[in-house]
Amino acid sequence: MDDVAVLPRPTRLGRGGGRFVLDATTTVSGSGPGAGAAASLLRALLAPATGLWLAPGGEEASIRLVDEDSDPASERYVLRVRPEGIELSSPGPRGLLNGIQSLRQLLPAGIYSPGPRRETWAVPEVEIEDEPRFSWRGAMLDVSRHFAPLDFLYRFVDVLAMHKLNVFHLHLNDDQGWRFASSRYPRLVEIGAWRAQTRVGHQRDKAFADVYDGTPHGGYYAQSQLRSLVAYAAARNVTIVPEIDLPGHAQAAIAAYPELGNVGPLEVWERWGVNPHVLNLETGTVQFCKDIWDEVIDVFPSRYVHLGGDECPRTEWRSTPAMQRRAAALGVSVDGLQNWFTRQLATHLLAAGRVPVGWDEILEGGELPKGATVMSWRGEQGGIVAASEGFDVVMCPERPCYFDHYQSERPDEPLAIGRLNTLEDVYGYEPVPEALAPEQARHVLGTQLTLWREYLPDTRHVEYMALPRLCALAEVAWSAPGRELGEFMGRLSHQLGRFDELGLNYRPLDGPLPAQRGGTGVRRRFDP
Ligand code: ACM
Repeated sequence: MDDVAVLPRPTRLGRGGGRFVLDATTTVSGSGPGAGAAASLLRALLAPATGLWLAPGGEEASIRLVDEDSDPASERYVLRVRPEGIELSSPGPRGLLNGIQSLRQLLPAGIYSPGPRRETWAVPEVEIEDEPRFSWRGAMLDVSRHFAPLDFLYRFVDVLAMHKLNVFHLHLNDDQGWRFASSRYPRLVEIGAWRAQTRVGHQRDKAFADVYDGTPHGGYYAQSQLRSLVAYAAARNVTIVPEIDLPGHAQAAIAAYPELGNVGPLEVWERWGVNPHVLNLETGTVQFCKDIWDEVIDVFPSRYVHLGGDECPRTEWRSTPAMQRRAAALGVSVDGLQNWFTRQLATHLLAAGRVPVGWDEILEGGELPKGATVMSWRGEQGGIVAASEGFDVVMCPERPCYFDHYQSERPDEPLAIGRLNTLEDVYGYEPVPEALAPEQARHVLGTQLTLWREYLPDTRHVEYMALPRLCALAEVAWSAPGRELGEFMGRLSHQLGRFDELGLNYRPLDGPLPAQRGGTGVRRRFDP
């Protein structure tokens, strides 16, 4: 097997016949603003397996990192490995961080081992010139439906960085749990972060209609914890985009503060599906949302922030006289209320210098403020409409970007939400819809996968559903068109070897599927 397997596939890669051997004499130096931090990361990544802490080497260092300081936003890098030394250069710090991940992949898979290995740490002679196709290469993780311990979020960042995915979209609230600790509204986590129990089985499976597990579930993140995570991610070229999903998906918030709702006290939701209980849009409720956002943007420096906006049923607004009066006073229809609400929050965020992102429902029912960005999930149509109207878009249509769908038709796959997105489906995805003219296509910032977690109860299971489809999506987002599945599969087998070293759980490519790989074991598949 070829020993060069960089994933995602680089723009250009040339091979030489020699190799560089990394050992106790190897030194590292950096020049330019971002090079010192990149050198630190390189040392930290190489130390556990090699047992070496690379010494600084000045001009004569065997590994030289050069931040040319010509374009801080650039993700481009050039990596030259020769027997006598390695040079990694980039117009800015981001490219250096990307190049470090490629350099790591050129070493034997044992480099990913968390403990020392006795190996010859040889790097094949190569010359790589590389840059991403898209600026938004994302992964969304739902930590509401099931909480993820903080250490998993760090592990998730590591997995993203390894694949040169640069956006970690963190879905911080939903009906089933609120995870962002607000100092202004403490009940959001005192009450809203905990549910008494969870519905068993698939939401549409009548056999389990009234069966609950009887086990309390919850958790939340302190702002200080999130700030540390943000810094850790930034040092790996990963930006965390926080999502506070309102005015639907609001039951945990309403459980904490009943005055936000339409129908009196509620519990944090214990079921799955689209929830009829939504925010009322009274002045105090809108102020609550702005207050929360002020706290969230203080913790997350990301230019893009996600205000949710999906799946907001109008039933309560239609049946509540107060909301009908509210709509009349605002001069909008009940159906126009959500758009009015989106405009309030989007304007608030734009004024704070942030770019509001929303699920494609935010296009409905009125004017969307210029500068907002649309995430197209109900197919490609929302993205096509938004790009045609001049809005930037991120493409994440359910097919094939929703990784809570089954990975294969094998009956022993663990319970999933339904439908099928195979590795091949993901690899074949083209994020720029054919319907877009070139000047509209420029609005496609990129693509991302989503990991909704109704049926992904623990983080081993998240890994199983993410991997290896995430590898395919990363290549779709990074590499130029003209990809070839067979060639990808060869590199992917190396990547799975790296996952083995890291102890990551993934779905095997073929062959028998042992029950324990599914995290929670094999459960009855439910197809409606
Ligand atoms: C979504 O899947 N409800 C955005």
